[in-house]
Formats: sequence, C-alpha cells, structure tokens
Amino acid sequence: MRVPRHVAIVMDGNGRWAAKRKLPRVAGHRAGLKPVRLVIQECSRRGVEVLTLFAFSTENWRRPAQEVGLLMKLFLEVLGREVDELAQQNISVGFIGDRAALAPELQECISSVESRTAGNTGLKLVIAVAYGGRWDAVQAVQQLARRCVSGELGVDAIDEALFAQALSLGGLPDPDLFIRTGGERRVSNFLLWNLAYSELWFSDVYWPDFDVGALDQAFEAFAARERRFGVTSRQIVGDVC
Ligand code: FPP
Repeated sequence: MRVPRHVAIVMDGNGRWAAKRKLPRVAGHRAGLKPVRLVIQECSRRGVEVLTLFAFSTENWRRPAQEVGLLMKLFLEVLGREVDELAQQNISVGFIGDRAALAPELQECISSVESRTAGNTGLKLVIAVAYGGRWDAVQAVQQLARRCVSGELGVDAIDEALFAQALSLGGLPDPDLFIRTGGERRVSNFLLWNLAYSELWFSDVYWPDFDVGALDQAFEAFAARERRFGVTSRQIVGDVC
C-alpha cells in the first residue's frame, strides 16, 4: 500500500469529547494525548517521513485565558515527560509557529526538545504551536523583503521555490495526507500554501477517540486516491506520490 510521506493532522473535537462526558475542556485535551502517542508510533512504524500536528493555532489565543493557560501547561508537562522516549525512538521533533508569543519557559523547553532530538534520523515530528498559515505567509514575506532591502536578493528572483523555502516547513515535502477529526470540513488556517495538493480526509470521530482503525481508514483512502497534480489520468504513469 502506498504510504504518505507527510501526514498533517488537525486534532479537533477535544472540547466536545469532554462536554459529552460533563468534564472540563482540558480533560478533552488530556485525553487527546493518547491518540497523539498512537499516531506518532504508527506513522513511525509505517515509514511516514514527516508528521505535523496542529496543537495550537494563532486563533486559539482568543479562547478563555484559563483554557489557554492550561493548554500551555499541558504542552510543557508533556514535552518534558516524553522527550526521552521520542529521542530513544530516533524521532526528531521540530516546532513551527510564532515562538515569541509563547512564555519564555515554553520557548526554552521547545528549543531543548529540538536540540535534544536534532540528530535523529527517523520520523520527523513537527508540532505547530501558535501557528497560522497566514502568519506563516507574512513571516516568509518579511524574510524575503529583508533580503531584498539588504540587496542580497532581487525582487524578480523570488519564485515559488524561494517562497516555499521561507515558510516554516522549509525544505520538508508538502503534506500528502491532511486529516481533520471532529466533523468540521475546514482547513482552519493550517499550512495554507503547503496543502495545495494534499489529499483531504475528514473524520467525524472526536480526536480523543481517534484510534488505529480510524488511521487505517485515512491511509487506505489515501492509497486509493489518484493524485493528478493538475495533469490528466492518462498522463500518469506508475506511482505518482
Ligand atoms: C482542538 O480541539 C484541539 C486543541 C486546540 C488542542 C490539541 C492539543 C492536544 C491534543 C495536546 C497535544 C500536545 C502535544 C504536545 C502535541 P477543540 O478544543 O477545538 O475541540 P472542540 O472543537 O470540540 O471544542
């Protein structure tokens, strides 16, 4: 079966999962850690190269301060607890998003997780925190504009490849498979440029209930899809992934 090189996931439905059980929303986020571990293990085992998880969006800052605070605490706790195991499993961890907006303690934790796992050659896990696709486009434009102003780069030298390189995912391949749980059929400002040709898979399952069967379904649907990238079916020879 053809396996996606890069899987990107919007882990939605934690709050509704908790509400259904009359639990506080953060209980849903905590319950969401189990499928996070599962998808990391499964993607690693199945030979996926990159897994990008949307943990906190630029828009999520507008949530009640208490929920934001508890989520940030959860990130710190989880990263501290899991880093050894991720390192042992040869997984490298990177973060994308507006780091300057995060508390200094979390910024330090992120940098230390990145450097601790930087030499690993297995699955590349990318965690999007304080990330938005529009923010990403703006920071890429700012980088390129600075280079133009300094005279290092000519405006006409800016092309798709240079723009893509300036985005947070830099040299990584674009996501082949985008998964969103929780029933909404939206991209919600995730990886706007990079998702141009991704296969989209939506699941009604709330994220804490996402299990290996649900992941299998997404991978099977991906394997069955014909990826044309703008050309016709007839032009596709062999396996274009
Ligand atoms: C969206 O569900 C989920 C989030 C904003 C947080 C997701 C974070 C985790 C699962 C923890 C992961 C931690 C690491 C370190 C990767 P929602 O709250 O929008 O759910 P709702 O739509 O039902 O309200």
